Amino acid sequence: MPATVVVGTQWGDEGKGKFTDLVAAEMDVVVRYQGGHNAGHTLVVSGETFKIQLVPSGVLYEHITPVIGNGVVVDPRVLIAEMDGLEARGVDCSSMRLSGNAHLIMPYHTELDALHERHLGKAKLGTTKRGIGPAYADKSMRIGLRVQDLLDPPIFRAKLEAALSHTNKVLAKVFNRLPMNAEDIAREYLGGCAERLAPHVTDTVTLLHEALESGQQVLMEGAQGTFLDLDHGTYPFVTSSNPVVGGACTGTGVGPRHIDRVIGITKAYVTRVGSGPFVTELFDEVGDHLVEVGGEFGTNTGRRRRTGWFDMVMMRQAVRLNSITEVALTKLDVLDGLERLKVCVAYELDGERFEHMPYHQSVIHKAVPVYTELEGWSTDLSGVTRSSQLPAAAADYIAFLEEGIGVPIRLVGVGPGRSQYLDWQEAA
Ligand code: GDP
Ligand code: IMO
Ligand code: MG
Repeated sequence: MPATVVVGTQWGDEGKGKFTDLVAAEMDVVVRYQGGHNAGHTLVVSGETFKIQLVPSGVLYEHITPVIGNGVVVDPRVLIAEMDGLEARGVDCSSMRLSGNAHLIMPYHTELDALHERHLGKAKLGTTKRGIGPAYADKSMRIGLRVQDLLDPPIFRAKLEAALSHTNKVLAKVFNRLPMNAEDIAREYLGGCAERLAPHVTDTVTLLHEALESGQQVLMEGAQGTFLDLDHGTYPFVTSSNPVVGGACTGTGVGPRHIDRVIGITKAYVTRVGSGPFVTELFDEVGDHLVEVGGEFGTNTGRRRRTGWFDMVMMRQAVRLNSITEVALTKLDVLDGLERLKVCVAYELDGERFEHMPYHQSVIHKAVPVYTELEGWSTDLSGVTRSSQLPAAAADYIAFLEEGIGVPIRLVGVGPGRSQYLDWQEAA
C-alpha cells in the first residue's frame, strides 16, 4: 500500500497536528520522521486539548501504531513525560514504537543550544532551546548517542565519554561553563529512561516495510515546515533537519516509490516564530487580528508568532520541493471579519518581479510583496461543514488560492476542533 506524507508548507505551526489527526482516522501507522520536541502540535478532540511534542499525532486513535522514526532526535526524559501525561489522560501509548537509530538529545545539547543563542546576541536564531541543533550537529560529527545505546550500557558509557571529551572542552573553553559529569548523565539515562523505553525500541524500518507490504496505510508526519528546512529554508534561520518530503524517506527508511500522496498543510495566512526574513509580515492591526483571533502564540514556547498575508511565492516553491498532491488549508475562520484580504502573488526588488522564490537570500531579505486584493467576509465560518455554506467571498478566496497554487485544495479548516472542516472538492 502506498504511503502519505503530511508536510508543513510555511514556517511551521500550519495546523499539521490537527490535520494529521484527521487524516489518521483512515491510517494504520503514523510515523514522525524528523525534528524533536521543538515541535508543538495542538489537537482538540471532543473539547479536550492535547499538546503533543514528540509522540506522533495519530496517538489518539486506538487502532494506530505511532512510530518515532530514525530521523527524529529524542530527549528520553521528555518522551517519557509526554507518554506519562497522555496515559494519565487515558491515552494508551503501549503500541508506540521508537527507532533504535534515532539520536538522543543529551543534557549538554540543551545547554549548548541556549549558550549558542546567547553567544549570537542580536544575530540569534530564536531557537526553541530544546537542544535540537547541537544534537543533529553531534549526529553529523559522528559523536552522537542513539536510542539503541540505551540498551547497551558499556557502549553508552564509552560513547558518552567520547562525546564529553570533546563537549566539555567546548563548555569550559568557549563558554566558561562547568564540565558535565558522565556518571550523572549515565545514571539518569541508563536508569529510569532505558528501562521505561526499552519495550518500545524497535527496528522501525522493518516495521514500516512489513506494514506497507501487508497493505496497511502509513502516514508520515512532518514537523516544522518547508521554509525551516536546513537545505531549502531561509538559512540560517531554520531548524537542523529536513521537514521537506525528502526527509520523510531518510527519516523513516521508506523510499520515494512508496509515497503517492503528499498533503501540504497550509495556513490561510502566514506565521513565523523566531528570527528571519518574512516578506508579507504585518505590523499593523491586521497582524494583531491574526495573532489574537488565531491564538498565534507558540504551543511549545508561548512566544508570540509573527503574522503576515498569504504568500503564493513561498507556496509555489513548497509545491515544487515537496511534490505536493493536495493542500489542506487551515484557519480560514481566522480571517472572519477582515474587510479586505491580500494575497502576495509575486515579490519585487529593484524593478525585477519574482513569481518564484528568488535564489539569492539577499533578495528575499529586501523584496517587497506584490499583492492582489480580495473581498473579505463578516460571517462566522466556525460552524461551516460544507462548501455550499460558505459566503461567496470565502469561496472566492479559496478558489483564488487554489488557482495560484496549481494543486487541489481538499480539506479546509474552520476551527481547532476535529470536526471543524469542510471538503472543498466535494462541491467541485
Ligand atoms: P502544528 O505545529 O502545525 O501542528 O500547529 P500548532 O498546533 O502549533 O498551531 C496551530 C494552532 O491552530 C493550534 O492551536 C490548533 O488547535 C489550531 N488550529 C488548527 N486548525 C485550525 C483551524 O482550522 N482554525 C482555527 N481557528 N484553529 C486551528
Ligand atoms: P511545529 O512542528 C514553528 C523554529 C524556531 C526557530 C527555528 C530553529 O510546531 O510546526 P530549533 O529549536 O528547531 O533549532 O529552532 O525553528 N521552529 C519552529 N517554528 N513551529 C515549529 O514546529 C518549530 N520548530 C522550530 O522558532 O526559529
Ligand atoms: Mg506547532
